[in-house]
Amino acid sequence: MVPINAQDKKTTAKDDRRRISLPAILGRLLPFVMQAMPWFFLLCVVVAIVHGMSYGLITLVSQHFFDAVTQAVAGKTAVHIAVWLGIGLGAVNIGSQVLNGVHNFMGNTFLKKMSGYLTVRMNAKASRLDPVAYETPALLDDINKADEGMTNSLFMLFTVMNLFVFYVPYFLFMGFYLYQLKPLLAISLLLVFVPVAASQLIRSVVFARLEDKAAPIRREFEYYERCIGDRDYFKETRLLGAFGFFRELYRTSLVLLNRQTWTAESRTGLLEIAMRLLTLAGYVGVLYLLFDALLKGEISIGAFSAVFASIDMMFGIMKEIVSDHFGSISRNLGTVRNFIRFLDMPERGGRELAVDAGGGIVLAGARFRYPGAGTDALSGVDLEVEPGETIAIVGENGAGKTTLVKLLTGLYLPTEGSVRIGGVDTRDVSAPALYRGISGVLQKYQRYKLSLRDNVAISGRTDGDEPDSRDDDRLELAARKAELDAGSPVFPTGWETMLSREFDGVDLSGGQWQRVAIARGFYRAHELVVLDEPTAAIDPVEETRLYRQFAEIARGKTSIIVTHRLGSARIADRIVVVEEGRLAAIGTHEELLQAGGKYAEMYRAQAQWYGRDEEEDGSPEQEFQVLVDK
Ligand SMILES: Nc1ncnc2c1ncn2[C@@H]1O[C@H](COP(=O)(O)OP(=O)(O)O)[C@@H](O)[C@H]1O
Ligand SMILES: [Mg+2]
Repeated sequence: MVPINAQDKKTTAKDDRRRISLPAILGRLLPFVMQAMPWFFLLCVVVAIVHGMSYGLITLVSQHFFDAVTQAVAGKTAVHIAVWLGIGLGAVNIGSQVLNGVHNFMGNTFLKKMSGYLTVRMNAKASRLDPVAYETPALLDDINKADEGMTNSLFMLFTVMNLFVFYVPYFLFMGFYLYQLKPLLAISLLLVFVPVAASQLIRSVVFARLEDKAAPIRREFEYYERCIGDRDYFKETRLLGAFGFFRELYRTSLVLLNRQTWTAESRTGLLEIAMRLLTLAGYVGVLYLLFDALLKGEISIGAFSAVFASIDMMFGIMKEIVSDHFGSISRNLGTVRNFIRFLDMPERGGRELAVDAGGGIVLAGARFRYPGAGTDALSGVDLEVEPGETIAIVGENGAGKTTLVKLLTGLYLPTEGSVRIGGVDTRDVSAPALYRGISGVLQKYQRYKLSLRDNVAISGRTDGDEPDSRDDDRLELAARKAELDAGSPVFPTGWETMLSREFDGVDLSGGQWQRVAIARGFYRAHELVVLDEPTAAIDPVEETRLYRQFAEIARGKTSIIVTHRLGSARIADRIVVVEEGRLAAIGTHEELLQAGGKYAEMYRAQAQWYGRDEEEDGSPEQEFQVLVDK
């Protein structure tokens, strides 16, 4: 119901997010797999093990085949033994290829199925997020990159699984095999690969650090990019002649980003070259050992040939593990961490209580501070909104009106003190249960790229229900209340008009959009309704008319209107004046005028906005008076 626009926040907060270790990540992911597709996963494991062993088997059968061939050539055994072993070797090779295909196919299926499953989980999670999380700049990365991290996390999980159930069995097999040939052979092989693995580990550490350092710069960089090219920014940026300005900022952050990447690359690059040379030396060493053993008669010609043929394969597989798999794991660790952090983000808890949203609101000692902010946006707020009362919240820009609305509707929980809606503490109740009876139009409402009908009827949904967008009477009523005319030429196809040029629809003016947003707020069934200055693009007299109409409709329902234009505030039963995060005064229009102070000062300054009025209607001031007296 309450759209939040979190796109334009720039970061100043420190990146103090916790690091999550690889085992912790896997421990977090495995339960999902076990829930989504346990049997398939186990089958993958079995196939991987058999696949890994089949490569080892090739070496073993090769040895016997080569031995049989040399013996047959020397006339020591019958030729048909060598032939049968040759056929066996072919069979094992083919079997291994088939397993390879099955293994790959299962991997792809696993990734596809799991990513569908996790997407659903992510959407569910997003809907449970505590909205205040969106106010923390560092967490925005986690939210925005969670999608990328989800895909990468599945790759990572599959890769790690293969390391354990495919590569490890293969190397264990080969290790035993080499060990029984000549112990030194097995040990030297393992030692050769250690430097490569070490270099890759160091690389991953360097890049993880880089990722942490680069994230804020990248966020800035992407923002400047938007300022230059994005549709929403383009016009103003051009009008201001600010392209050069943003291009310069863009360039500077790009240079910074590249420099950091380059430093990390050059450092790890040198390291890698050194390690590769070491590996090569090891390779030559193993060949030497092999020759030595053969010449001394410690191993047969068949064993020599089989091992010789498999050395390349082992090196290939090791490189694949170290460069590709370790590499991709370390590269993706950053985004995967984003995904896990997203999954761990604070959720609004609370129980499924029945809340009478129209049953009044009580704030006691409420204080609120935005995450990462240095000062309180609101403090020491004590306020009682009676059931059925209309309250106006007035105050200057930045006084804390919107923040107060977020507390009054339970969208945000107070940092200290309490907010009770219909007698229920907003901390105790789940967000969906709380919002069931609340409707509102926030200052930063959304312009959905949907039809006019859907733009309004979208608010009619109560979680899980289909929107009852075919309820035309209700739509018309909401539109009338918001002074929105679906029959006007602005909407060529009436309710079905698409409100986006991107989708072959129309663009609306700011004032028209505001009426759409207001109609959306009215369409939703509610006991408590809030309007937080959705009327900035409508002139003061129009706004007053709209709010006056609103008050008539809202009669009997608890309602809160926010405005910095006092002509509209007069329709309220009581007016709350907010000044620098505190409640400066509460009372009726007359009481507040008499008391002097901020309200009287603002009222005098704004009197000219409402000076002349349509004669036939009588002055709006008289009309307000009638309303208030009723
Ligand atoms: N996300 C945020 N993080 C930190 N401070 C914020 C944030 N949003 C608003 N504020 C601060 O809280 C104060 C009150 O803001 P707000 O409630 O939007 O005022 P109003 O609606 O009266 O114009 C302002 O000083 C503003 O700078
Ligand atoms: Mg505001």
